[in-house]
Amino acid sequence: MHYTPSLADHHLPHDPLLALVAPRPIGWISTLNAEGGVNLAPYSFFNLVAYHPPQVMFSSTGRKDSQANAEATGEFVCSLATWDLREAMNLSSAPVERGLSEPELIGLAMAPSRTVRPPRVAASPAALECRYWRTVELKSMEGRPASSLVLGEVTGIYIDDAVIEGGRVNLALARPLARLGYMEFATLGEIFSMARPAAQDLAGRNE
Ligand SMILES: Cc1cc2nc3c(=O)[nH]c(=O)nc-3n(C[C@H](O)[C@H](O)[C@H](O)COP(=O)(O)O)c2cc1C
Repeated sequence: MHYTPSLADHHLPHDPLLALVAPRPIGWISTLNAEGGVNLAPYSFFNLVAYHPPQVMFSSTGRKDSQANAEATGEFVCSLATWDLREAMNLSSAPVERGLSEPELIGLAMAPSRTVRPPRVAASPAALECRYWRTVELKSMEGRPASSLVLGEVTGIYIDDAVIEGGRVNLALARPLARLGYMEFATLGEIFSMARPAAQDLAGRNE
């Protein structure tokens, strides 16, 4: 099959797009509102987009509290959503009234960050403390306003020592959650390594 996203002519019961760009990491974004209350919500339009310096992005479909708070306070934190925290992560996506604190409503403990004011999810094995940089307003080709790309620089990184083994982060212990399409999520399957090829590894392969 082939379809045109603007026409949504896929003739399937549900939009398949998000199942095609999967798995997506989940940034569990904490911010502070104007009153200092803690806001927390998951974003799967999320990724590390640069290494030196480390920079992350999340994309807000409509102007939501995480974007508004990050812009207003200049800070946000991305905690790693894991299998153990899947229920709390999902609950924190509920559309609660602006100003209400998801961690308080859920009863989820938060822990102080070191380089920014928003706290991290205490039970999460890793968190990226971020300074807000800028928002890129995404538009359709016809110029219609669409989503907002919120960009930040990572100023501090928390890792629970319990997931560090032999000097490396053991993701099999952390069990990060990934977002798929529909209402589907996944954890990691088999983990394997591949060495980066050198130019000579290609020599003679197509003779
Ligand atoms: C796993 C998961 C991923 C999500 N990813 C996004 C996303 O990338 N962008 C978005 O706008 N909403 C996303 N949502 C929905 C938001 O979490 C939800 O709208 C939330 O209420 C926003 O909270 P906020 O207003 O406190 O930022 C996601 C929800 C879940 C459960």
